[in-house]
Amino acid sequence: MTQPEQTVSEGALHGRVALITGGASGIGLAVAQHFVRAGAAVVLLDRAATVTEVASAFGARHSGVVLDVTSIPDVQTAVAAAAERYGRIDILVNNAGVALLSSALDVTPEEWDASLDVNLRSAFFMAQTVGRFMVTQGYGRIVNVASQASVVALERHAAYCASKAGLVGLTRVLALEWAQYGVTVNAISPTVVETELGKRAWAGEIGEAMKLNIPVGRFGRPEEIASAIAFLCGEDAGLITGENLMIDGGYTIR
Ligand SMILES: NC(=O)c1ccc[n+]([C@@H]2O[C@H](COP(=O)([O-])OP(=O)(O)OC[C@H]3O[C@@H](n4cnc5c(N)ncnc54)[C@H](O)[C@@H]3O)[C@@H](O)[C@H]2O)c1
Repeated sequence: MTQPEQTVSEGALHGRVALITGGASGIGLAVAQHFVRAGAAVVLLDRAATVTEVASAFGARHSGVVLDVTSIPDVQTAVAAAAERYGRIDILVNNAGVALLSSALDVTPEEWDASLDVNLRSAFFMAQTVGRFMVTQGYGRIVNVASQASVVALERHAAYCASKAGLVGLTRVLALEWAQYGVTVNAISPTVVETELGKRAWAGEIGEAMKLNIPVGRFGRPEEIASAIAFLCGEDAGLITGENLMIDGGYTIR
């Protein structure tokens, strides 16, 4: 009897345990779906209450935790619980993020702090908490979801650009410090992606104008971002670290 055909990605993450922040929707959900297909056990961390249903729909060996990633004690508790349940943590995808957009003259201290808190500060403390386990076990893959806004200016994106540029700087330092322990740390930088966040920020004319500046002529799909993340989280990507991979249809090449 012939065996069912397997694609390369199927089983590529077999036996791996992956934490994904913002895993209840958008890019995080697409990453979770891809990882589950590739054989990983996923732990989804999201402030949306739906995260538990999303995880249980994947099957009993996956988990969903309702938490706000800006709460460091909650992050530490969730990471410790995952390490206890699975015995290891191989992958962290720091994906939770917000886009609070205002022109630079109008940004309030609250908007600034909220953007930096979710997009940068929480990503660091999540990485630090998970990194302690990875360094001890001598293996890990961390991917920080940045944005094309990490390398180019976008109008109304002062706080967002600052947070994502900071995330790329942070990625390099963690990559440098943890390479010796078998832990790679990379960032990915998508153009506009068709998710709730992407649709909100780029609805209507502003989005059509943006598309004209993307050489491939369209926005990204969450699955396209997920496959690039999965590649960076695979065992074969061990020589890639400290990188910021643009997934932007060429937006930043000119
Ligand atoms: N969509 C785009 O156009 C685009 C482009 C480049 C980069 N990104 C980045 O990709 C990442 C995912 O974005 P998306 O488009 O999937 O967004 P989304 O809004 O569709 O999903 C984000 C998820 O993160 C969760 N989340 C937000 N803040 C949280 C918090 N404080 N604690 C816990 N969970 C929280 C939300 O509940 C949601 O499930 C973000 O970091 C975003 O900056 C998005």
